[in-house]
Amino acid sequence: PLITTKEMLLKAQREHYAVGAFNVENMEMVQAVIAAAKALDAPVIMQTTPSTLRYASPEYFYANAACAAEEAGVCAALHLDHGSDYALAVRTVHAGYTSVMIDGSQKPFEENVKITAEVVRMCSSVGIPVEAELGKVGGKEDDLDGGSGDAYTDPVQAEVFTERTGISSLAVAIGTAHGFYKGEPKLDFGRLQEIREKVSVPLVLHGASGVPDEAVRESIRLGICKVNFATELRVAFTDGIKEVLEKHPGTIDPKKLGAAGRERVTALVMEKMKVCGWDK
Ligand code: 13P
Ligand code: ZN
Ligand code: NA
Repeated sequence: PLITTKEMLLKAQREHYAVGAFNVENMEMVQAVIAAAKALDAPVIMQTTPSTLRYASPEYFYANAACAAEEAGVCAALHLDHGSDYALAVRTVHAGYTSVMIDGSQKPFEENVKITAEVVRMCSSVGIPVEAELGKVGGKEDDLDGGSGDAYTDPVQAEVFTERTGISSLAVAIGTAHGFYKGEPKLDFGRLQEIREKVSVPLVLHGASGVPDEAVRESIRLGICKVNFATELRVAFTDGIKEVLEKHPGTIDPKKLGAAGRERVTALVMEKMKVCGWDK
């Protein structure tokens, strides 16, 4: 069954691990993420971006995710990642999504507060938790170009933002970026610690693909409760398909390709869940 991210993240916060949030872009990736959660008996979040929801509708992804979770007997959440506007938040909640992000991080502070508070008001009336972002996570995610990512989250602003909006979780910009990195990313752990001291809701780390495991672990130790992975899953899925095509260039059965991609994604997701501290 699909459950909200609220209790999931609060439990992670209490017990000092993070819930892995994995971007899914097709049926096989949904199946792969659920298979990993089942194998490790782990809490899990599947999430889709606006561009993924233009590839297939929220209703498709809801049906897919709900069916996969139900069949496996896994408790999972389905989350809108980098929600672009109020209308998409409404649409996904209506489709059955159990968690929503509104990303107003590109807007001036007051506008970010306004749009976030509006989405929180709508979602709270139906019991759906909301994640928002303050500061800019760099790199290009979907249609959003975070640019160089030099606008790190200000701890004092983060406190005010969280109070004024009533969000359930906060995505912080501390040096990660979407996609891979040229060198090794340098995370501002001191800043994370200051944010943690001022903000009590679960904190979210975006852009975890390409971040060394040790840095992910340290950020969890300092208060991160949800870690987002997208790019590495895309690579794993595509590598699985490439391998089949290289070994057997005549393959035309989409199921053979999809299954190979799926297997790679399951293995990767299990690895990331362990990095997130789920080793029970
Ligand atoms: P990566 O693509 O770097 O893993 O970022 C994922 C993310 O933040 C999704 O919101
Ligand atoms: Zn992100
Ligand atoms: Na990244």
